[in-house]
Amino acid sequence: MQTNLSVIDDISAHTSRTQSRGTAGVIPDLWNVIAVQKRPLMEVIWEQQRLHEARRWNAVALVDAIDLAALSDEDKLALQMAGQAELTTKPGADRLAHQADVECRRWQGKNAALASVMQALGTWSRYWNEEEAHHESSFDQLTRRLGLEGATDEMVLQYRKIFPDDDMLRTLVLLAISEIVASVNYANGSRATKDPGLKALFKHVGADEVQHMTNFVSFAKALVDSGEYHAKDAFAVAHFFVREDGELQGSRRGKIEERDTHVNWWDHIDDGLEAVANHKRKVTLVCNMLERVTGIRVDSAEAVEEMWMELVGC
Ligand SMILES: [Fe+2]
Ligand SMILES: [Fe+2]
Repeated sequence: MQTNLSVIDDISAHTSRTQSRGTAGVIPDLWNVIAVQKRPLMEVIWEQQRLHEARRWNAVALVDAIDLAALSDEDKLALQMAGQAELTTKPGADRLAHQADVECRRWQGKNAALASVMQALGTWSRYWNEEEAHHESSFDQLTRRLGLEGATDEMVLQYRKIFPDDDMLRTLVLLAISEIVASVNYANGSRATKDPGLKALFKHVGADEVQHMTNFVSFAKALVDSGEYHAKDAFAVAHFFVREDGELQGSRRGKIEERDTHVNWWDHIDDGLEAVANHKRKVTLVCNMLERVTGIRVDSAEAVEEMWMELVGC
């Protein structure tokens, strides 16, 4: 999945050819590509297109291949919850597209490379949005075929409320964590089911979530590398999730906020019997993500809190 600068180099060196070479992937060092190498934005966008096309899969075919009679009660619950959780991705992507364009205009004339990074981010959000459409519609359709209650119209309207804007680095780190949580939950669902069809569906969706997380890391790292966004904001958001009784605990948290503005999908998730193991895995992945974005290594929830406080004190 990972690419490196050689992919971009390769494309640039062979612009006269009609065929692209190399494996499509997420650009790991986007700031270097845009600000230092000064590659055209449309080359970056072509990489996004190549990766999107390389990863497309057919939701109708995968859903049709599932043996409904073979699914356990645990499988059914996982599908129902996943269908609801995925409803909030579209407003997330719609909001990101708008916010990235606002940020692009804010940096135009002040920091041209950062304006291009924001435009690349807003452009990529269209692929993210399309890929997430496969997730919500597959899970909800299966829920209905099983005779269970899918998302009601009222729920769709409620879950589609657009999230309020926030600092862009904070937004990207929050989205990276959402993808981490989703990928761990789908890996869990894939391991738990005995039906090969459902296993395949969870694996495809989980691989998408890992790819989305990698993209959010790439953009968040570019923001930190630009020097205009501070690592403390990445740690602040991560702390919010990994702290004791934090957002990673999903519906198990002692207190869940009531809001009129939007729906946080993790407020409604219970990852069942695997909750403790899943939680540990999620904290580890959040720490890895923080290191990739900021270059600062932490290895526990406590270390995230300590580093956050240290950075705030700077
Ligand atoms: Fe998803
Ligand atoms: Fe995703």
